[in-house]
Amino acid sequence: MADKFDVVIVGAGAAGLMCAAETGKRGRSVLVVDHGKKPGRKILISGGGRCNFTNYDVAANNFVCRNPHFVKSALSQYTQWDFIAMIAKHDIGYEERDHGQLFCEDSAKEIVSMLLAECDLPTVEQRYRCDVHSISKTETGFSLKLNANTVECESLVIATGGLSMPKLGATPLGYQVAEQFGLKMVPTTAGLVPFTLHKEEKEAFAELSGIAIPVAVDAEDGTHFKENLLFTHRGLSGPVILQISSYWTPGQKVTIDLLPDLDLAETFNVMREKHPNQSLKNSLSRLLPKRLIEALIERGDLSDKPLKQYNEKEITAMAAYFHQWAIAPNGTEGYRTAEVTLGGVDTDELSSKTMEAKKVPGLFFAGEVMDVSGWLGGYNFQWAWSSGYVAGQHA
Ligand code: FDA
Repeated sequence: MADKFDVVIVGAGAAGLMCAAETGKRGRSVLVVDHGKKPGRKILISGGGRCNFTNYDVAANNFVCRNPHFVKSALSQYTQWDFIAMIAKHDIGYEERDHGQLFCEDSAKEIVSMLLAECDLPTVEQRYRCDVHSISKTETGFSLKLNANTVECESLVIATGGLSMPKLGATPLGYQVAEQFGLKMVPTTAGLVPFTLHKEEKEAFAELSGIAIPVAVDAEDGTHFKENLLFTHRGLSGPVILQISSYWTPGQKVTIDLLPDLDLAETFNVMREKHPNQSLKNSLSRLLPKRLIEALIERGDLSDKPLKQYNEKEITAMAAYFHQWAIAPNGTEGYRTAEVTLGGVDTDELSSKTMEAKKVPGLFFAGEVMDVSGWLGGYNFQWAWSSGYVAGQHA
């Protein structure tokens, strides 16, 4: 005899736990299954162990989705303020960092404990180290073959996340379920991920590993971010690169303004007037890390001579070089280090009001498994909370 539940949720991550708590509060009997040995593993490591759990400013344009309107309903049904209220109810201390990002003051563990406390209801059962071997449709809902037995449910919620960080238990199960039920997929790729560089640039900039500078970056589609860039021994990282990576496709360039807060031509003229005999290297080393200037000179991108020897044409070209430093990444570090997966279950297949598959009644999706990815800054968790909450009201 199969165990019977009103709802089975596959995935005990951010979206799955939120959904379980909400479904359980409605008096529905819920089983949460996860193949990992404990819940919320990504939450635990997120934000350097402090979990950037949401953001004070959340809007649809903070998300990458083929249908930019899809996220609006869920984000308004369960807002950042609702999650902040839950945090306050559980007495979790938090702090605001740059760009409205909210982090735990103490530890991400508190977020997982809070979600587990919310799930601590007689209606909610959780099973870990539990694999899902197969899923099939029944007359009244779904049947799932698990490790030791079969369970049946009226509603099935897929909250298995994306493909990033396989060592934390990421699998394509959610996508396979979508395909099994005939739902379209948006091709997946790594997002919020460092860039790797072509051999020549990689070698030229490897020595700069560890240097961080504030820059502005534009993708070819015009998307613009202004934050820190970090040189790594593989290529480029830092928040600005992670953000722009979600808008980059292989073969494209990104344009980096290395001095976004000044007009280099104007500054150069002032420096030349004051210090005509100073070398370009020494002058520019006041504006940017010396090692970067040296690397650019060594590559032959800049000539190093006394400032008085530069003519207007050279100054204009140099200013353009620093304000529009064009880099064509070789690729990204991929799912191994990506914070999210772009693409996933096509949102055209889902109701934005309930997260239910339009053509498969009773089948719901929540969190990163669908074609919704947020910017860096707490948006991905907010999507997990909002979509998990919404699915939890209807499953
Ligand atoms: P999530 O990945 O959380 O959960 C999916 C669950 O499904 C997992 O428990 C997994 O074990 C389970 N599962 C998968 N396949 C299964 C299978 N076949 N059978 C059974 N169970 C299965 N976001 C943010 O907003 N702020 C931040 O600070 C960070 N920081 C961060 C750091 C790092 C290193 C990463 C990798 C990611 C982040 N993120 C983030 C992104 C954020 O972690 C992510 O978007 C959410 O966890 C997505 O929540 P989900 O519940 O959809 O998936």
